[in-house]
Amino acid sequence: MALSDTDVSDVVDSLSLDEKCSLVRGAADPEGTATGYVPGVPRLDIPELRLADGPLGIRIPGRSSTAFPASIAVASTFDPELARRQGVAMAREAKASGQHAVLGPGLNLVRVPNCGRNFEYYSEDPVVTADFAAAAVEGLQSEDVIATPKHYVANNQETKRLVVSAEVGERALRELYLPGFEAAVEAGAGSVMTAYNRVNGTHMSDHRRLVTEVLKDEWGFDGYVVSDWFGTASAVGAATAGLDLEMPGISLEALHEAFGIDPDAEMLAEGDDESIPAGETTTPKFATELKPAVESGAVPADRLDDMVARILGQMARIGLLDGEWGDGGALDTAEHRDLAATLAARGTVLLKNDDGALPLSDDADVALVDPGVAEAMLGGGGSSEVTPAREVSALEGIRARTDGSVAFEPGVERVVTPSFFDGGDADSDGDAEDFPGGKTPDVDAAADCAREADVAVVVVRDATTEGADRETLRLPGGQDELVAAVADAADRTVVVVQSGGPVELPWRDSVDAIVESWYPGQADGDALASVLYGDADPAGRLPVTFAPEGSYPAASEVRYPGVDDEARYDEGVFVGYRHFDAADADDEPTYPFGHGLSYATFEYGEAEVRGDDAVAVEVTNASDRDGREVVQAYVRPPTVAGVERPTRELAGYAAVELAAGATETVELTLSEHAFRRYDDSEGWTVDAGDYVIEVGRSSRDVRAETTVSR
Ligand code: BGC
Repeated sequence: MALSDTDVSDVVDSLSLDEKCSLVRGAADPEGTATGYVPGVPRLDIPELRLADGPLGIRIPGRSSTAFPASIAVASTFDPELARRQGVAMAREAKASGQHAVLGPGLNLVRVPNCGRNFEYYSEDPVVTADFAAAAVEGLQSEDVIATPKHYVANNQETKRLVVSAEVGERALRELYLPGFEAAVEAGAGSVMTAYNRVNGTHMSDHRRLVTEVLKDEWGFDGYVVSDWFGTASAVGAATAGLDLEMPGISLEALHEAFGIDPDAEMLAEGDDESIPAGETTTPKFATELKPAVESGAVPADRLDDMVARILGQMARIGLLDGEWGDGGALDTAEHRDLAATLAARGTVLLKNDDGALPLSDDADVALVDPGVAEAMLGGGGSSEVTPAREVSALEGIRARTDGSVAFEPGVERVVTPSFFDGGDADSDGDAEDFPGGKTPDVDAAADCAREADVAVVVVRDATTEGADRETLRLPGGQDELVAAVADAADRTVVVVQSGGPVELPWRDSVDAIVESWYPGQADGDALASVLYGDADPAGRLPVTFAPEGSYPAASEVRYPGVDDEARYDEGVFVGYRHFDAADADDEPTYPFGHGLSYATFEYGEAEVRGDDAVAVEVTNASDRDGREVVQAYVRPPTVAGVERPTRELAGYAAVELAAGATETVELTLSEHAFRRYDDSEGWTVDAGDYVIEVGRSSRDVRAETTVSR
C-alpha cells in the first residue's frame, strides 16, 4: 500500500536539514547503472531512487534492453495504444534493471526540421503529441515507474541549446508547445524535466511562471520537477522557481568517470556550447548553495520541504517507501521483441509506390544496396542510445524472407551515427571488413549489381544526434548520388529512407517506391522485410511535413538558429502543416502531414456528425488485400475578423484494420483543441460559427466533409 500524503509529510518532518538537502540533488550511483541517482536515508529506511534514460528504450551502461523504434516512428502509427504498450514494456525493463524512473517521453514539438533530436519527439502537431504523451505516461506508470516527460519547454533545437532563448508568444506556447506536457500531467506523470534553454529570457530551471504558475498551480502537477543534466542555472533561482531535484548533482568529471565516458569526446567536451555547458554550469548548485540559502531564508524552509515531499510522494506512489516496489520486471522478453517489431512495421510510411512496385514478389531477385548493411538502424546519438540484445539488419531481414536471390553492394561508405558513448567519433570508418563478403564502397559496382536484379532496394540514412542539429536536410555521404546512379541502372528501384525527421529526396521522381522507416530499432530488417513483401501493410502516416529545406517557417536566421542567443518564434502558431496550408505559403509540401500509402485501396462514404464532438464515416477496403487505414479528421475554423488561424488543424484520427472488401463505420472523437484558440487577453476562446470537419487520408487528401457549429 502506498503511503498517504500525511505519512509523507511525517517523514519530511523527521528529516534533518542535511538529509533534506541530500534528497533534492543527484549523486554518483555506486552501482553504476542509473543515469540519475538520489541516495536514500538509511536512518529512516528511505531507499535510493534511480532514474534511467529513455525514450527509445532503457539505457543502462553495459547492459542490453529492447531497442524500440524512434518516437517519431511510434507517432507515425497514429495509434497511441501502441505507445501505451511500449510504455508498459519499457517500465518492465526499467524495473528489471532496478530503475524507478524513466527519462521520457520526449515531448518537444518538431518546430525545426533540422533539430538533431526530432527522432526523440513525436510530431509537429500538438494533438498527436498530446495523445502519445498521455499514452506513454499511462503505460510507463501502470507498472509502478515514474515517467519523466521532457524537456519542458520549447527545447526545439540543439544548436546553442544551453543558452538559446525561445522568444515565443503566449498563443504559440498554449496552442503548440504546452499541450503535450499538459496531457502528460493529466495522465498523472510523476515527474517533468526542465529544458536546457531559456524561454523569453529566463532559463527553464529558473522559470517560475512556467514551472510553478503554469505546471504546478494551473495544471495541478503534484510530482517533482527535475532539471536536465547540468541544466540548473542557479540554486536560489531554481529552487524558488519550483525546481525540485537537481541532476546529476555531481561534477562533469565525476559523471564522466561514473559512466566511463571519454572526457575528450568531441561531443561532450566541456565548453562545447552545443552540448555540455562550460565551467560554472557543470558545478552542481544545490550541493553547496542550497543549505546556506535555506538557512538564510533565501529559499524558504517550506519550499525545501515541498521539494522533498514531491520526491518522496512519487517514491511512495510506486511502492518504494514501503518495500513493495519491483514486481513484474522483465528484460528482452518475446513480447517486448514482438512489440518492437510491430511498432517498427506500423510506423513505416510508404511515401510513394508507382505502378505497384511494392510489395515485392516472393521470388524477386533483389540487389540490396545498403551502406549500413551490417547493422540495424537503432536510433540517433545521445542520451537515448540503447544497446539491444539482438538486432536484425536489412540484409538479414530480406535474406530470411525472400525466395529469390539477394546480391549486396554497399555503394558508399558507411554513414556512422555519432555516439555519446564511444568517444563521439562522427567520422565514417567505412572499413571494408565491415561489409559482408569484404565488399568495398563503389557506386559503379552498386549500379551494376542493380542492373542485374529484378529490383534494387537502396537503404539510405541520415546521422542525427543530441547536441547538434543537422546542417542540411540532404542525406550525407554521397547517398543522393548513389540513389540516382542505381535508379538509372535498375529496372525498378525502391528506396528505404532511415531518418530522424524530414529529409530532402532530390531523386524522388526517378525511383519507383520510397519507404520511410525512420530509426526502426532492433527489429529493423524484420520489419522492413514484412513491409517490402506485403506481410504487413505499411500503416504509418507522416507526423511531420516533408518539404524543401528553405520552405519551412523557421528558415530564417532570426527564427532559427537565432541571433545573439535568441530564436524568435515569429511564425507563431504557423508551424508544420499550419504553415504550408496558409494562403501566403510559397511552397508546397513534398509529402504533406498525415500522408502515407497503403497496399490496399480505401473508399470513404459521407461524413456524419455524432453529438457535439465526434464524426463518423464509412470506410471500405475496396482492394483484394487486407489493410490498415488511418482515418483523419481536420477542423477548418470559421473566419473571424482580425483573427489569423491555421487553415486546418488535426482534431481526431483512428487506425483501423480492414479486411479485403470489408466496410466499417469509423467514429472519430474531435479534440476541443482544434476548435479553440488562445487569445492573449481572453485566454482560451471558441468563436461562434460553423466549423468544417474534413475527413480523409491526409491533411491534403480530404474525402468527405461535414459541419459542426459552436
Ligand atoms: C538530455 C536528457 C537526458 C539527460 C540524461 C541530457 O543531456 O538532454 O534528455 O535525459 O541528458 O542523460
